[in-house]
Amino acid sequence: MTSSRPGLREGLIFLVLYALCISSTSAANNSNVNVFQYCQPWICSCYMDGTYYDPGETWSKKGDSCITYKCQENGYYIPDTIGVMFEGECKMVNETWTIGCFQYTVVLEGITPKYRLVQGGCMTNIGAQCILVGDRIEENCDTYECQIVGTCYTLVKVVVGCNAGSTHGCQQLHSVWNDACNVFQCLPDATTESKIQIHLPEVMLWPRGNWALLKPQTGCPSNVEEIWDEGERVHYSEGGNFYNGVNEFEMDGNHTEFVMEHRFCTHEDYLREGFMPVYHTYWEEGRYCILRFNDSCPKNFSEGYVRMADFEGNITINGEEMYVNGSVNGTLPDGEFLETSTLLYFCCRYDGDLETQLILPADKPFVLFMAENETECQKVRAMEYEKEFFSFADVFEGFERELNGSLPRISTADNNTMINLCHYKPLDCGCVYETGEYVTLGSTFTTKDGCVSYKCMYEEFVKKNILVLQTGACANNGGCIATNASVRNTEGEQCTDRFCRQRFNAAKEQFRDYWEFEEVPFGCKDTEGICQPISTEVVIGCYTVTCKEDPVDSNLKFLVTAGGCTYPNATGGCVPEGDNITDAACLTLQCQRHASMLRNEMAVLAGGCDIGNGTCIEVGANVSIGCSIYQCRKGAEECGLIAIDGQCPTFDGSCVAQNANWTSGCTTYTCNVYGDSIKLESVNGGCSWDGACRPEGSTWNESCKTYECQNVNNMYKSVMIAKGCKDPSGGCMAANEIRPYYTCNKIKCFVTDYSCRISIIEAGCNYNNKCYKANETYPDSSNPCVTYICNITYTDDGQVSMRSDKISQSCYSSSDKVCFNNTHVAKYTMPFCLKFTCDMQAPQQPQHAIICQSETGDCVDVGSRYTTVFSSHTGDTYRAKNCLCSSGGQPQNCQGGYEKL
Ligand SMILES: *[C@@H]1O[C@H](CO)[C@@H](O)[C@H](O)[C@H]1NC(C)=O
Ligand SMILES: *[C@@H]1O[C@H](CO)[C@@H](O)[C@H](O)[C@H]1NC(C)=O
Ligand SMILES: *[C@@H]1O[C@H](CO)[C@@H](O)[C@H](O)[C@H]1NC(C)=O
Ligand SMILES: *[C@@H]1O[C@H](CO)[C@@H](O)[C@H](O)[C@H]1NC(C)=O
Ligand SMILES: *[C@@H]1O[C@H](CO)[C@@H](O)[C@H](O)[C@H]1NC(C)=O
Ligand SMILES: *[C@@H]1O[C@H](CO)[C@@H](O)[C@H](O)[C@H]1NC(C)=O
Ligand SMILES: *[C@@H]1O[C@H](CO)[C@@H](O)[C@H](O)[C@H]1NC(C)=O
Ligand SMILES: *[C@@H]1O[C@H](CO)[C@@H](O)[C@H](O)[C@H]1NC(C)=O
Repeated sequence: MTSSRPGLREGLIFLVLYALCISSTSAANNSNVNVFQYCQPWICSCYMDGTYYDPGETWSKKGDSCITYKCQENGYYIPDTIGVMFEGECKMVNETWTIGCFQYTVVLEGITPKYRLVQGGCMTNIGAQCILVGDRIEENCDTYECQIVGTCYTLVKVVVGCNAGSTHGCQQLHSVWNDACNVFQCLPDATTESKIQIHLPEVMLWPRGNWALLKPQTGCPSNVEEIWDEGERVHYSEGGNFYNGVNEFEMDGNHTEFVMEHRFCTHEDYLREGFMPVYHTYWEEGRYCILRFNDSCPKNFSEGYVRMADFEGNITINGEEMYVNGSVNGTLPDGEFLETSTLLYFCCRYDGDLETQLILPADKPFVLFMAENETECQKVRAMEYEKEFFSFADVFEGFERELNGSLPRISTADNNTMINLCHYKPLDCGCVYETGEYVTLGSTFTTKDGCVSYKCMYEEFVKKNILVLQTGACANNGGCIATNASVRNTEGEQCTDRFCRQRFNAAKEQFRDYWEFEEVPFGCKDTEGICQPISTEVVIGCYTVTCKEDPVDSNLKFLVTAGGCTYPNATGGCVPEGDNITDAACLTLQCQRHASMLRNEMAVLAGGCDIGNGTCIEVGANVSIGCSIYQCRKGAEECGLIAIDGQCPTFDGSCVAQNANWTSGCTTYTCNVYGDSIKLESVNGGCSWDGACRPEGSTWNESCKTYECQNVNNMYKSVMIAKGCKDPSGGCMAANEIRPYYTCNKIKCFVTDYSCRISIIEAGCNYNNKCYKANETYPDSSNPCVTYICNITYTDDGQVSMRSDKISQSCYSSSDKVCFNNTHVAKYTMPFCLKFTCDMQAPQQPQHAIICQSETGDCVDVGSRYTTVFSSHTGDTYRAKNCLCSSGGQPQNCQGGYEKL
């Protein structure tokens, strides 16, 4: 994390404070002092978004409350906590949270926190569980998989099934199951994807193929869809046939101790085209036998046969002698039906469980054979069974009974052939409610709304199972309302009592009552939503409403029956119905009963115009205001005053007749007429200036300013068009004009919108009629050893001073043109020298004295000795040696004598 310095944008104030910090530091003159520490506690607070924060303080940034900053001791701030706003909450870095099946976390990208989806999943419909992509869940027997569809995590139904209830659980599409009475199948459905179809017995067909059954007295188990062939075999014994004794032997045909007449139902395979849908049963696994037909057993059955020895010859039955032998008639199952023997082929299977119900058409009784080694019958859905047998007394002489292959339970212990049968009869099954729900016998069925329940019972007088009413009520909002109880209901303004009534409608459904609501109007709903009975009066503001029937729609409503209008005028009173009132906007309002009769309202009758001081005039009326006459006219939405006649008002309150002129000051106006309106407009004139009128377009000067008389919006105005500066001599200078000022200066006139100003733009020193620039140096006119400098100073008030300042001075020796201080010696004509003495206070006039010059050209002071040469007035030249130099440069007392040269 890097500290961030408050940037420039943080504002000027910071910068100023920062500067203060620096200067304080330099004042301390200690380079080790931390500038910010030094400034504590009042200067170096942290600054952000217009607010200062003390060290240690934390805050969050404006507009991003999820990042908090902390002010450090040194006046820098650093991010303290970093988060990101997610649905109104701050989520911190590394924080993870879950919304539904989505898990998020906050990660840092650089220094920016961002939230990321860590893991997504699908929310299950039931139980609000989350499952991951690819996982599957079974809900209500359908299997869903969590998949990403586009960008959505979606539960996609991948396997459809049916919920077959608590005992049968979930069933896959197309699978079949059954309860005691019915066969159900899970089938595809266009609207709900799957539905449970009940296969009622009468829509079922017997298993395909060729086979045969014994025929019970109730007949072949045929229904309209199937064709059964029938036939019979009659065979005889010498007596000794017997049958089950506990219950009646119920097979069709003559069965006595001598004769057995077996009747058969044979089933041929067939395919009926165009007949759908019918639920075909099939021979399911189990332990049972049927009869073979058409040379082979159905699939999964194995075959066997039994041969019984029959009697043929004269026999005495009931004291009457007669000739008997075996015979056949009609279509028979596979077998050998001879005069002296009967062979029957069986098809048996022992591959299932007796307790597992077979599904076979259950609407009629039928007969199967009990399987070998069993003492009970195979269970069949919706059927009860009775065990029966016939026992044929075989004839011995010359014949052996034969048992071969897979057979039913056959016992031969008593020399008879006893074959055991299972006689199936339909159970008394339950009831079916009108919506298709199946109700088992004896159980109670409650309608979906939970308000009516029936019990499935057998009723003797109709000889069938019917749903008998147990309890009933009216369904209302997820609850039930008891018979004759009521619930209050509001529709719009009308309140109704809904009484639950029990009805009987023979046409609707047999033996079944039903419940429905009877609506009894009760009253009206008031403004608080409370139902008030018919005739209740309520006062609303200035009028009264009464709960009564609306003649238009026959609903109960609170209709206005008396009173006026609430109208918020100054006194806040009520306006009686029919009364008029005029409001502040000059509208005339009348208290009227609203067409709906639900309220009274102030309706606008007419408009008017406000002519000031709260007075209204009607539409069409005229009013004179000032110099004009106005008429109140009605516009699209409002009324307004339109000037229709009059004179023009002037500035001084007088009126000017139409088309007349009026002069004020230098200007003349005309009262012009434009359709409905009049206007005072200037026609000619000028500007009034210093008591005189100046014509339009004229210009004049005053105080170095130039004015022009202009016509601005019908008004004559003296407009300044130029301005200049007042010069030092009292004249005027034009803007930007430059002028010499004294000898060496120039001045300029500067003009801005707000001021005129003369400034020196060039300055110099004037010396000896010459101009010098600032800092230029120049000698004195009489003494070249005196030098001046041009000194120009500007003062704060814009003044300037020019001075020649002496910067050096000394004396001037004109003989050898040398500048000197104090004394100076110069050679002169032989034998003289000049000795100058300079008074530094007055260097102009150096004093000089004549001294001596030696032969060698050296200058010799008075009183010193020297050798010199000189010319006499005769023209001879002499050398005088060891002379004393006396004043005036004269050699004297030349002790060395004179030598003529
Ligand atoms: C977030 O987690 C990462 C990895 O565990 C770690 O390096 C980092 O310091 C954590 N950041 C915060 C602010 O806790
Ligand atoms: C049964 O058989 C006897 C004698 O064979 C006969 O008299 C009688 O009519 C038969 N009954 C039926 C129902 O076939
Ligand atoms: C059998 O009975 C018939 C009469 O019912 C008789 O005519 C016939 O002779 C008898 N046959 C034998 C072998 O007794
Ligand atoms: C054979 O069956 C047919 C039809 O079932 C019947 O009409 C006929 O009388 C039967 N014949 C004998 C000899 O029983
Ligand atoms: C019946 O029992 C016998 C003796 O145990 C056995 O041999 C036979 O296979 C059994 N039959 C069936 C169909 O189970
Ligand atoms: C069965 O027949 C045998 C001889 O064929 C005989 O010995 C036996 O007694 C008979 N049993 C019965 C119960 O009639
Ligand atoms: C307010 O309305 C009442 C009832 O019409 C009326 O008597 C009263 O003069 C009104 N007050 C004003 C200020 O208009
Ligand atoms: C209200 O105004 C209307 C229209 O101007 C007029 O006919 C009516 O008489 C007025 N009613 C009252 C009570 O002044």
